[in-house]
Amino acid sequence: MIKTAKINFEKINLPKTGTLIFTVTDKGALSDSAKTLDKDHGKFITKAMKVGEFTGKKSTSLEILAPSQINNERIILIGTGKQEDATPIDWRHLGGTIAGGLATKKINKATLIAETIEPTQEGTENLANIAHGATLRQYKFNKYKSNETDQDKQKSIEIDAISIQCQEPAKAKKLYNDQFVPLQSGVFSARDLVNEPANILGPDEYAKRIKALSSLGLEIQILADKDLKKLKMHSLLGVGEGSRQGTYLAVMRWNGNPKSKDKPVAIVGKGVTFDTGGISIKGSGGMEDMKGDMGGSATVVGLMQTLAKRKAKVNVIGVVGLVENMPDGQAQRPGDIVTSMSGQTIEVINTDAEGRLVLADALWYTQGKYSPSHMINLATLTGAIMVALGKEYAGLFSNNDEISEQLTQSGERTGEAVWRMPLGKIGSSYDKLVNSQFADMKNTGGRWGGAITAAQFLQRHVNDTPWAHLDIAGVAMASNKSPISQSWASGFGVDLLNDWISVNFEK
Ligand code: BES
Ligand code: MN
Ligand code: ZN
Repeated sequence: MIKTAKINFEKINLPKTGTLIFTVTDKGALSDSAKTLDKDHGKFITKAMKVGEFTGKKSTSLEILAPSQINNERIILIGTGKQEDATPIDWRHLGGTIAGGLATKKINKATLIAETIEPTQEGTENLANIAHGATLRQYKFNKYKSNETDQDKQKSIEIDAISIQCQEPAKAKKLYNDQFVPLQSGVFSARDLVNEPANILGPDEYAKRIKALSSLGLEIQILADKDLKKLKMHSLLGVGEGSRQGTYLAVMRWNGNPKSKDKPVAIVGKGVTFDTGGISIKGSGGMEDMKGDMGGSATVVGLMQTLAKRKAKVNVIGVVGLVENMPDGQAQRPGDIVTSMSGQTIEVINTDAEGRLVLADALWYTQGKYSPSHMINLATLTGAIMVALGKEYAGLFSNNDEISEQLTQSGERTGEAVWRMPLGKIGSSYDKLVNSQFADMKNTGGRWGGAITAAQFLQRHVNDTPWAHLDIAGVAMASNKSPISQSWASGFGVDLLNDWISVNFEK
């Protein structure tokens, strides 16, 4: 369990001790309560603002040591700029920055007086976003640190409580508890799973942890090796041949709208708990990062958890392929030919292009078994997507313009950005790059456009289902730190897909 500060929403009532944080809008406009405090104590705030040249501009702050007549230790002013210029993500980042500042200044309790935020629907969302950002920021993965070192302790502390005083606290509290707390729990689970080392979280343990999610009201089905053999999933099974552990397909169902006649939405994830590359073994530099090669699956697990916790009125199927890619006497070889569940044959040119082999069967199974109206998969699939997009965007590949547009918008709303990449139709010149001289296709597409040829390969296993593939290799881990994530694993995609589902499918 991650310990984060208790968040309280309260009516405006300035505490006489501790740290006070005031929001200040553009042109240095103070709230009524800040003005009163200022006036009652010799205009110390106005003076400090002048000396500190603080004007309330977005992303600025001013720390004032309180005058001796009052018992509060510090007064901190936070600039929010013009309210209409700030996006929901700006408010989240503001919360994250506040929490980060408190932790490094070793302030374990503070009160944010957000009186300048209007009690409108938008203002209420802004307040919940501040609280959400502050909480996400506090995530730490320190379960394997026997003792927090002195150095860790010097850097920051754990915050006990943040009180947010505002005009209508009940509304903000309800929105925060109903929507944002479930989202946090999904994001934290996804981060935890990705941060967990592969000796602890192999396919066997991962399958057990997923099974345990039935306590949330999710229907869980774990298909193990013998089930997968019966289903003829030899593309997925081939990847696990070199591992001592089992290979699994885990299915998580959330039936939040049992009366609905609509087909469910399906989300599929790559869960390679460690990717050595197999016989086409990777170089050792940075190979430890491949404990995060189950990032796509972690997002699916986190998302399903969020949907269950907020009792989303929608039917969603989450499917993940869990497998370890190891070199061994039993491991599959380059040149091997396997037959996937779809009946298509695959020449395995490179055992390190294993993610697409996992997804081939997971996608085919999902579309055939559940006929989803929409299917989205997430995978840390290629290094090439990082060459193309860096670590700012996930790559989006889709056979459907509407899904692409919806996901792009969700990306803009949540700050989990996606960028659409080219995908050719079956038979196009891109598609032909994965033709094999010995089998129906091969699992690599040559030197150029590696993220695209990987997507082309996946497309051969989705039939005509409206589908999108998110290549999250650049954003799931070792990604850019932000005011709301200081963690190696970002939990990318939980917020994005939760937004996509809630905006487009919930009634
Ligand atoms: N898991 C890797 C992709 C990856 C690399 C994810 C770095 C995150 C960080 C994937 O299985 C892989 O090895 N892809 C190969 C494909 C190649 C052999 C065609 C790659 O990208 O080099
Ligand atoms: Mn690989
Ligand atoms: Zn991989």
